[in-house]
Amino acid sequence: RIKAFVFDLDGVITDSAELHYQAWSRIASEQGIPFDRDYNELLKGISRMESLEKILERKPDACFTASDKEALAARKNDYYKELIGTIGPQALLAGIETLLKDIVGAGIGIALASASRNAPTIIERLGIGHFFQVIVDPADIPHGKPYPDIYLRAASELRVSPKECVGVEDAEAGVQAIKRAGMFAIGIGSSEVLHEADYIVPDSSFLQLQDILDRIDNQKD
Ligand code: BG6
Ligand code: MG
Repeated sequence: RIKAFVFDLDGVITDSAELHYQAWSRIASEQGIPFDRDYNELLKGISRMESLEKILERKPDACFTASDKEALAARKNDYYKELIGTIGPQALLAGIETLLKDIVGAGIGIALASASRNAPTIIERLGIGHFFQVIVDPADIPHGKPYPDIYLRAASELRVSPKECVGVEDAEAGVQAIKRAGMFAIGIGSSEVLHEADYIVPDSSFLQLQDILDRIDNQKD
C-alpha cells in the first residue's frame, strides 16, 4: 500500500525549471558559452554548483578559480531570485493542488525532495506549505540526484519504507534517484528524457490520484 508521495519542486509543482533555465542562460551568454534547452536538460535536478560546472565545461580553455565559480553561482542565484520574486499561488501547475488535496484526503503523506535551496521560499510563496509533512533540506544531503539519498531521506523522515512511496519528477537525474531509492517513479515531460520512469505523463494536468494508485496495483499483478 502506498503511504507517501515525494515530490520534486522545480518543473513539477511550479514552472520554476524555466526560471532556472533563464537565469543560467544569462550567465552563459555573459561568459560567451553556448547554452540551449537541450543542454539545460542535463542541469535539471542537480545542484547549483554542479550545474555551473556543466556549463563551464563548454569553455574548456578558460580557467575559473574557486572564487570565480562562487561569484558566478551567486550571481545566477540573484538572477533566479529576481525571477521567483513574483511567484504566487497562481503559479501552481495545473492539477497539482487537486492532487495534493486528494493525497491528504486519502490519508497519504507528502514530502518535498528538491535540490533547491530556494525551495522553502517558493513553497511559502505558492501557499502550499500546509500539505507537506516533510521538506528535506538539500544542504544535509551530500550526494545529490541521481543518487537516491534525498528520496531515501524523505522516506525515513516520513517513517515509511521507500517501497511504500511514489516519487514525482521532471528530470532524468530525478527519475534515476527515485528508481535507485526503490520507489514507484512518475515522470512529467518527455518520454525520451524520462524513459526510466514507471509512469510518464506529458504534463501535471494528467495526474490523478486514483489513476496512479490503480497503475501501481496493476504493475504488481
Ligand atoms: C533543482 C533544479 O530543483 O534545484 C536545478 O532542478 C537547480 O535546476 C537545483 O540547479 C538547485 O537550485 P538552487 O535554487 O539551490 O540553485
Ligand atoms: Mg525538477
